Amino acid sequence: MDRLMIEGGIALQGEIPVSGAKNAALPLMAASLLAAGGHTLHNVPRLRDIRTMQALLGHMGAVCEHGEAMTIDTGNIHTLEAPYELVKTMRASVLVLGPLVSRYRSARVSLPGGCAIGARPINLHLKGLEQMGVDISLEQGYVSARARKLHGAAITFDQVTVTGTENLMMAATLADGVTILRNAAREPEVVAVAEYLNRMGARIEGAGSAEIVIEGRPELTPASIGVIPDRIEAGTYLAAAGITGGRLTLTRCAPEHLDALIHKLRAAGVRIDVHGDSLTASRDGAIHSQDVKTWPYPGFPTDMQAQFMALMTLGDGVSIISEQIFENRFMHVLELKRLGADIELDGRSAVVRGTDKLSGAPVMATDLRASASLVLAGLAATGKTAISRIYHLDRGYETIEKKLAAVGARIWREKE
Ligand code: EPU
Repeated sequence: MDRLMIEGGIALQGEIPVSGAKNAALPLMAASLLAAGGHTLHNVPRLRDIRTMQALLGHMGAVCEHGEAMTIDTGNIHTLEAPYELVKTMRASVLVLGPLVSRYRSARVSLPGGCAIGARPINLHLKGLEQMGVDISLEQGYVSARARKLHGAAITFDQVTVTGTENLMMAATLADGVTILRNAAREPEVVAVAEYLNRMGARIEGAGSAEIVIEGRPELTPASIGVIPDRIEAGTYLAAAGITGGRLTLTRCAPEHLDALIHKLRAAGVRIDVHGDSLTASRDGAIHSQDVKTWPYPGFPTDMQAQFMALMTLGDGVSIISEQIFENRFMHVLELKRLGADIELDGRSAVVRGTDKLSGAPVMATDLRASASLVLAGLAATGKTAISRIYHLDRGYETIEKKLAAVGARIWREKE
């Protein structure tokens, strides 16, 4: 297994291009199942989760090639199943459920188990499908979904769910009649999926608001689209400029998707300048401790909680970080403490008392964003940090060590 080595203490300087968003590319790939033929996706990041989704589509009979663009031919789908081996490595595999049952009237998808950040059930996906006329049964760890034909329904989510909204929106595009999704997720990734579906001939209005209306169509046709920039990758590098006291310009990003984070970073003493699709982050004064509560979009993203906490470990006071989305997303706390952070957990909140310095140590990555927070802390720490289990990072950050090395970080990968 590989580990990531970092010799910290260098103020990062330079430019980093932002990749396409993993969490937009995954549902776009799943959406291709809704229309037989050749689809093209541009700006798809090269990541382990993307390869897992490719393998899943391949298992079903799609031909998915990732060259300069990604092409997906869904002309010969023969297996309507997402097997346990793939779902267990990537929960987003559940995104094929809605498209499959809507187009092929049948699907078998392994039930995802718990994961490092919480229980993460899919009950809301299933309840919504049932409202649309799908029979759901659970057999041998699999969700079996069958339907004669899906019909439109008025569905109110008990809780805001990103992939749940995407799954039901995709399913509704081929249903009879109109579906209304209330308390829908408003994330930019949901908007990106709606745009792609509309290019395929779907009729979706309201994506980006809490109410999405989908008028079902008899069929969709293949289309092409570019993947939106990864706001979490961008946010992670903004935090890298802040924690190292450097100056980074991020290109090819969508600053308008980062409002809540930019607001908090500025309050924390990180200067952020926006110019078109670029952002420059720099810091030369102290890091000011800030309280943060994660929230569904447009609130502060849970996917930036761990990275922001890394920044707060060097703050000038006390910061209370509350996690509202996932019940167990604090696995990074113990690892950050190994680097010298002063953090106390109190239920769903972490109380972070800023310290003057972090010092390098061996630490372990536990999930994707937790790993990113350890990289940030390692970049700011004096001495050497060794991060093991970095396959988590490879799920969601394209060539992270190359991008960071190019702006001056001493960071490299080695065999454990
Ligand atoms: N929930 C339920 N029942 C459901 C669905 C969700 O109780 O049927 C709960 C979850 O347990 C959680 C909350 O609702 O407490 C929100 O979960 P959500 O469904 O929104 O999460 P997700 O769709 O599984 C996506 C991202 C995550 C990101 C969350 C929240 C993808 C592929 N994944 O997950 O990304 O943290 O939304 O914004 O889009 C990551 O990239 O590191 C990552 C974990």
